[in-house]
Amino acid sequence: MSRKAAKPKPRAKAEVPPGEITATGPGKVILLGEHAVVYGQPALAGALSWGVTARAVPARRCELVVPRDLPAPGRKLLERAFHRAAAAAGAPKVKVQLEGELPVSMGLGSSAAVGVACARVLLRAAGRRDDPRSVVRIALLMESEFHGTPSGVDHTTSATGELIAYRRRDGAELGSARVVRSPHPLKVLVALVGRRSGTREMVSALRHRIDRWPVRYGRLLEEIGTLASEGARAVEEGDLEALGDAMNVNQGLLCAMQLSSPAIEEMVQRLRHLGALGAKLTGAGGAGGAVVALFLEPEPLVARLRRAGLACFSSQLAGPAAL
Ligand code: PMV
Repeated sequence: MSRKAAKPKPRAKAEVPPGEITATGPGKVILLGEHAVVYGQPALAGALSWGVTARAVPARRCELVVPRDLPAPGRKLLERAFHRAAAAAGAPKVKVQLEGELPVSMGLGSSAAVGVACARVLLRAAGRRDDPRSVVRIALLMESEFHGTPSGVDHTTSATGELIAYRRRDGAELGSARVVRSPHPLKVLVALVGRRSGTREMVSALRHRIDRWPVRYGRLLEEIGTLASEGARAVEEGDLEALGDAMNVNQGLLCAMQLSSPAIEEMVQRLRHLGALGAKLTGAGGAGGAVVALFLEPEPLVARLRRAGLACFSSQLAGPAAL
């Protein structure tokens, strides 16, 4: 997996060896509600057309081919996480290889995508059901090795592969998710800026401020939750302008909670200036990361911005597919 955003190459059918099982875990963007979702507020998130593919071939034992470009501590962590998932899936005798072009550690849910791809391929190889709930349950086991206790929005979005309204449930292993349908194609442009801060650090810095000023931050978190609910309704009603406005207001609140940065703000302004209906950071935020912008037709702009050297891509999150 690389940091650059190049188009994924389709794999020729003839290359598939006999007995190979493949499964994918898409990346995600949170349109509304990151951070607040950790505290039980609703969020609106969609699966990207980019992700991670896991390929499993018959082997003498259950093992993972750890990507070579991963630094040593990450390799150990990934192996440990994989073996936890493998044990829960019934430890099928397969060798699993990962590939994908989803930018890593930029707020696009790459670790959830790895978890979902592994969980799905392991369940399939073990001849078990790979419905979204079973997949999320195993993918979250992997995630607990990486990040501690996430809200589950990344994993549920990846396992569902749809635009969803998600809510964490107190004390429950899995949150609730509802697919949000759009009468129109809902397309976004995702731009990558700078180097991102870690999710764990951003979540814990915010927790510290919430513990200190619970009433003030409680108001902001609740407002973000309201925006997420309003945004989901706007999508269903085909009102993309209202969705874009909710994204802009959400960005203001994330900035107020010190989760943004000059690099992110500059990109948000640039994309709004270029006609975005709404633009905001997506994911944990911090020094840099991914910015998501809502456009009716982002494709020509992606081509133009890429020529100008910006790492960006477009993805359709919901609505009827283009012919
Ligand atoms: O780890 P990221 O950047 O893809 O986003 C995580 C989203 C948060 O709401 C910040 C954390 C969570 O567990 O939901």
